[in-house]
Amino acid sequence: MRGIILSGGSATRLRPCTKITSKQLLPVYNRPMIYYPLNTLIKAGIKEILIIISPERAGDYLNLLGSGSKFGVKFTYEIQDQPKGLAEAFIIGENFIDKENVVMILGDNIFEDDFINDIQDFKKGGKVFAKKVPDPERFGVVKFDQNMKAVEIQEKPKQWISDYALTGLYVFDSRAIKIAKQIKPSARGELEITDLQNWYLKHRELEVGMVKGEWIDAGTFDSLLKAQIFAKKKMQDKMIINN
Ligand code: TTP
Repeated sequence: MRGIILSGGSATRLRPCTKITSKQLLPVYNRPMIYYPLNTLIKAGIKEILIIISPERAGDYLNLLGSGSKFGVKFTYEIQDQPKGLAEAFIIGENFIDKENVVMILGDNIFEDDFINDIQDFKKGGKVFAKKVPDPERFGVVKFDQNMKAVEIQEKPKQWISDYALTGLYVFDSRAIKIAKQIKPSARGELEITDLQNWYLKHRELEVGMVKGEWIDAGTFDSLLKAQIFAKKKMQDKMIINN
């Protein structure tokens, strides 16, 4: 299993702070934000990790994270020239993924749960993780039938379809590369991860797990503040990477 941390993007919602640095390098209590998703991957036993970054901030990531040897893993870096969407990660990561399964985590997502079994036991298809939230319209949303079987996934739906957001952790087999290449940009000009998920859903190969513990997408000032407090209170003893 290969790992990807998607850590580019434009972070417009955190301006002006992100005019001079990357969102995922901002502090979340006592660590840079990216340490939290990195911790999730390392705890799940992932040893080879691709970090996708924007060209403006590449040097800062190299300075902070280096080769990965201090964490006992190996980092590969790729540049995403423009933020053309989450699904582009699988195209950028084509050579890195090769024929392996891949777990991608967003660089601004903080999970309390461990996903060791989900990641280690994954064989084929796709697996995503849902969480009931009060503001589903901010996210990709999954609708379930009476048997809690996923029937539909929509990106930021304007009309309510479900309270279950899809979180920023995705496990796919290497077919994700080919499927991502077939996705057409959406109205907002992005290759949507929702389209990739819907491909696996349509082919009955998408499993949807539940996130039990806290999950924070730290991409707004309010959620960043929440993440800071949560990290101080609940994440300290869960971190296996420190400096
Ligand atoms: P978003 O928070 O949706 O986008 P953003 O980071 O550009 O922020 P804003 O909406 O405030 O402008 O992105 C989710 C995560 O994915 C985040 O860690 C950034 C990353 N990302 C990329 O690396 N490349 C992309 O093309 C996009 C859209 C996001």
